[in-house]
Amino acid sequence: MIIDVEPLAQKLKKEINEKIKSLKVRPKLVAVTYKPDDSTVSYLKSQQKFANKFNIEYEILELTFPENIFKILKELSNDKNIHGIFLTHPLPEIDEMEALININPEKDVEGRHPYNLGMLMYGNENFAPCTAEAVVKILEEITDIIGKNVVIIGRSSTVGKPLSIMLLRRNRSATVTVCHTKTKNLEMLTKNADIVVAAAGKPNLITKHMIKENTIVIDVGINVVDNKIVGDVSKDVSNIANVTPVPGGVGKITTLLLIEHVVKSAEKIYKNLNK
Ligand SMILES: NC(=O)c1ccc[n+]([C@@H]2O[C@H](COP(=O)([O-])OP(=O)(O)OC[C@H]3O[C@@H](n4cnc5c(N)ncnc54)[C@H](OP(=O)(O)O)[C@@H]3O)[C@@H](O)[C@H]2O)c1
Repeated sequence: MIIDVEPLAQKLKKEINEKIKSLKVRPKLVAVTYKPDDSTVSYLKSQQKFANKFNIEYEILELTFPENIFKILKELSNDKNIHGIFLTHPLPEIDEMEALININPEKDVEGRHPYNLGMLMYGNENFAPCTAEAVVKILEEITDIIGKNVVIIGRSSTVGKPLSIMLLRRNRSATVTVCHTKTKNLEMLTKNADIVVAAAGKPNLITKHMIKENTIVIDVGINVVDNKIVGDVSKDVSNIANVTPVPGGVGKITTLLLIEHVVKSAEKIYKNLNK
């Protein structure tokens, strides 16, 4: 079965629109990029269109010289008219961590700043990484997570690792296993899981024989195969398990959560300026 995320998407859209209506300021998001590849350019364009639908101002700042990035991020961080800063990934020639720490954590709408990732360790999810948060929101809509065996495939700082922390939080209390390229016998682990989250970026990594019946499978992967976007989970898995679609699954919720973070940030910054 395919998991339909549309009801969750509609609920989030409604909440975002209601919040925007009550705002006294137009939220503004700035995307900072350097030497973007084709997929980054098309991603930014579609993000811009999406933000504009919510009446969010969206500026793309393409840097000419990488050495300017720290100064620019600091300036954007201090600009009271900017509420969210989005840093594209990968950033050639630039140390991403060095760049991230120049962003004001209050404008880190992607939840990538070490401050926000550190806050996650203490259960504070004010700005959680959007994709990890999207997986959690989808799971919370469709199942009770407490006590479930969750196998996450992928240990990146933006998806796998923060997701594991979020699922361990006491109100979710999942038993979490995080896998990576050195994990032995992945199939044994996925077969014993109640929930599998595939975030490896490898098409067809998860096949039918690796999953037991009725497992919830969240497909985070985005891969281009024969000019088509596919996830990490092969098509036939949905014959026996419940799988999120790609495209139109985790990605859809991730984009909405980014918008929600910008709105939240705009509300907070405006309030603080007008105390
Ligand atoms: N839907 C969305 O909104 C969204 C958002 C972000 C990312 N994504 C997609 O999600 C995928 C993962 O993104 P990411 O940024 O987390 O990627 P990443 O930084 O490349 O991390 C990939 C992780 O998967 C592990 N891995 C790769 N091949 C594996 C295999 N055969 N078996 C077990 N583990 C394996 C890697 O292990 P090692 O650590 O050992 O190398 C690594 O930990 C990508 O396809 C990306 O495009 C989707």
